[in-house]
Amino acid sequence: MKDLTTITGAAHTDRIHDSAAKHVTGRADYTDDIALPEGALHAYLGVSDVTHARINSLDLSAVRAAPGVVGVLTATDIPGVNDISPTHQNDEPVFPTDLIQFHGQPLFAVVAESRDIARRAALLAKIDATPLPHALDPIAAQEAGYPHVTAPLTLQRGDLDAGMAAARNHLKGRMTVGGQDHMYLEGQIACAIPGEDDDVIVYSSTQHPSEAQHMVAQVLGVPSNAVVVNVRRMGGGFGGKESQMNLFAAVAALAAKKWGRAVKIRPDRDQDMTATGKRHDFVIDYEVGFDDAGRIEAVGGTFAARCGFSADLSGPVTDRALFHADNAYFYPHVRLSSRPMKTNTVSNTAFRGFGGPQGVIAAERIIEEIAYATGQDPLDVRKANFYGGAGRDLTPYHQEVTDNILDRLVTELEESADYRQRRADILAYNLHSPVLKKGIALTPVKFGISFTATWYNQAGALVHVYNDGSIHLNHGGTEMGQGLNTKVAQVVAEAFEVDFERIKITKTTTEKVPNTSATAASSGTDLNGMAALNAVEQIKARLVDFAAGHWQVAPEAVRFEANQVHIGTEVLSFDAFIKQAYLARVQLSAAGFYKTPDIHWDRDKGQGRPFYYFAYGASCSEVTIDTLTGEYRVDRTDLLHDVGRSLNPVLDRGQVEGAFIQGMGWLTTEELWWDDAGRLRTHAPSTYKIPLASDRPRVFNVNLADWSENRELTIKRSKAVGEPPFMLGISVFEALSMAVASVADYRECPRLDAPATPERVLMAVDRLRRGAA
Ligand code: MTE
Ligand code: MOS
Repeated sequence: MKDLTTITGAAHTDRIHDSAAKHVTGRADYTDDIALPEGALHAYLGVSDVTHARINSLDLSAVRAAPGVVGVLTATDIPGVNDISPTHQNDEPVFPTDLIQFHGQPLFAVVAESRDIARRAALLAKIDATPLPHALDPIAAQEAGYPHVTAPLTLQRGDLDAGMAAARNHLKGRMTVGGQDHMYLEGQIACAIPGEDDDVIVYSSTQHPSEAQHMVAQVLGVPSNAVVVNVRRMGGGFGGKESQMNLFAAVAALAAKKWGRAVKIRPDRDQDMTATGKRHDFVIDYEVGFDDAGRIEAVGGTFAARCGFSADLSGPVTDRALFHADNAYFYPHVRLSSRPMKTNTVSNTAFRGFGGPQGVIAAERIIEEIAYATGQDPLDVRKANFYGGAGRDLTPYHQEVTDNILDRLVTELEESADYRQRRADILAYNLHSPVLKKGIALTPVKFGISFTATWYNQAGALVHVYNDGSIHLNHGGTEMGQGLNTKVAQVVAEAFEVDFERIKITKTTTEKVPNTSATAASSGTDLNGMAALNAVEQIKARLVDFAAGHWQVAPEAVRFEANQVHIGTEVLSFDAFIKQAYLARVQLSAAGFYKTPDIHWDRDKGQGRPFYYFAYGASCSEVTIDTLTGEYRVDRTDLLHDVGRSLNPVLDRGQVEGAFIQGMGWLTTEELWWDDAGRLRTHAPSTYKIPLASDRPRVFNVNLADWSENRELTIKRSKAVGEPPFMLGISVFEALSMAVASVADYRECPRLDAPATPERVLMAVDRLRRGAA
């Protein structure tokens, strides 16, 4: 095996994650590892045990009286604004004052000498509340006349009704797509250290330090300049720490300022799962008109989502579902609408793909429906509907698809995975195998890259070169395991032409780079890589200027190369050169900035160019199901994914593999289940099943499309990788669907809902068998 540690800094080369050895040896510092100052306290949340109720009184006397308890925090202790809504809708109190809106909602916090004391004392509260009727899912909410948490979006092009009327064939259906818990290894956590005056420093496991900063300031009623938020790394975020950590940062900071002592808050896993938001589940109603060959003529869709009690990020999440409800396919006439429903559940939030996967799976269901109706291989229906060809490149949001590489990508995977032969073999196998049935599917992904909130597409970086030649790198992105810091450091190393080891990767802090965006929408490297490069270019320009003047050469005669600087015929080590520059009083520090060009979006019109470019991928999975139990196994998966010119192929492959497995988990075994009383009953790994190492495909071939190059001027022509491959997991779902369909001779499209747990697979098999009998 290649030694991935000794390769020098250059971009486009394999390089191990800068913290990999520390991750696996326990020497990587997480928020919980920070040494606490003398006298530090611990907070724990007290939560509601009813789902929807008017609060009459909150009796916390027993909590306060418990030995070791220092005090409690309620809404009345908030000096600033009692709201942490990330979109400023004033619908998300830190602690509610009159209304409980979901089971497990935080109502107060206990602050005590130890975490254990706080945790036990939190259970001693007596809550007097008058129950109100509740609605848990989007359909129940619609029936009960619940409002939208934010304005719905409609995307349309052409004339849906006319397109439908003109089509020879029609189908409609409903699909339910489940949510997903983030299951980050490191849970939510924050630790606040009070400073003088109104100052406070908060260490938080957050993807969005600037937002945590602004929320803490708002809650404390102080300006943002009083609050510093730091994060060295997260043990996974996956979208669950884009806004959900605001609560913990706010509680820690409130308590730290109230008692003048450091305060840490870390919920246990059950509370983390019940009190923080997850992926939105959707109920999707679709209709499609198509010709006899399976070409789509018109698509209509309504996407109702369980948003929970507040808006949080549900607006942009449900928007992104619509943006991806075409996936790779051209819809001549289309109308898609979102229904972001308020429900009496925890407020749902960002999760890898940010609603996109829920849109893509609807497109793939529509394709399947057509394939079964016309008796074709679904892959042929997919290919017949790809974007491309005259007049077939406009999305439902009126952005042109100009960089489509799916024809080549899908054809290559089809061949390397031997799809056609294996499908024929599987059809033959199923004829003679009464109990075990196999399925295979090859599904494409097209995913739009950029925040749809256009102003978010900006980033800053701060680079210092110290006078010994060592380099300090800081940028606004956060590290959650994805390798962002490694990639950005590679960019910097290559720009200075120095070894990777010369660059010190430092914690993200609101003190160094202000007003940053969340590390989200897969944009971390695109944005922060460019901002860091901009900072390096500023420093280099000054250095070249200095060298040309000092050694009396043309600027073109100054070259950075292999830890050295060539100046005409002179060659200096980088260190020696930097020392000279310092003595000549050259500024060796720069703040870099970047904003994505050429994007715009008009939500009211539903038109624009929200995405700078698209990332593509394709996935082929083969499964075997047991038709007596519903159990299944993934026999083989082949992935081919587009990351443009990869900055770091080994890290990108890691992202592709991990995303695929997480996507597979979403669609197979990970089930969120609320009982009628509104209690989430799958709130720990004991009842909520994420994929294990043993669930991975038995044969797993993962490749990057190494011939791809971003047509846009992104960082080194690479493409974002964090989220797009999540949707490669859909091939497992579709393969399961084919295996199920085999029991009725593929005459009917199984209306399999997600997650396709063994129970659901068994029920789908039974339904088809009964229908066939
Ligand atoms: N990879 C790891 N190991 N851990 C994570 O939490 N989050 C994903 C993805 N890959 C995540 C991850 C999500 S939701 C996003 S948006 C991107 O990483 C964010 O990082 P990036 O923009 O640097 O790709
Ligand atoms: Mo990722 S869901 O955009 O944090």
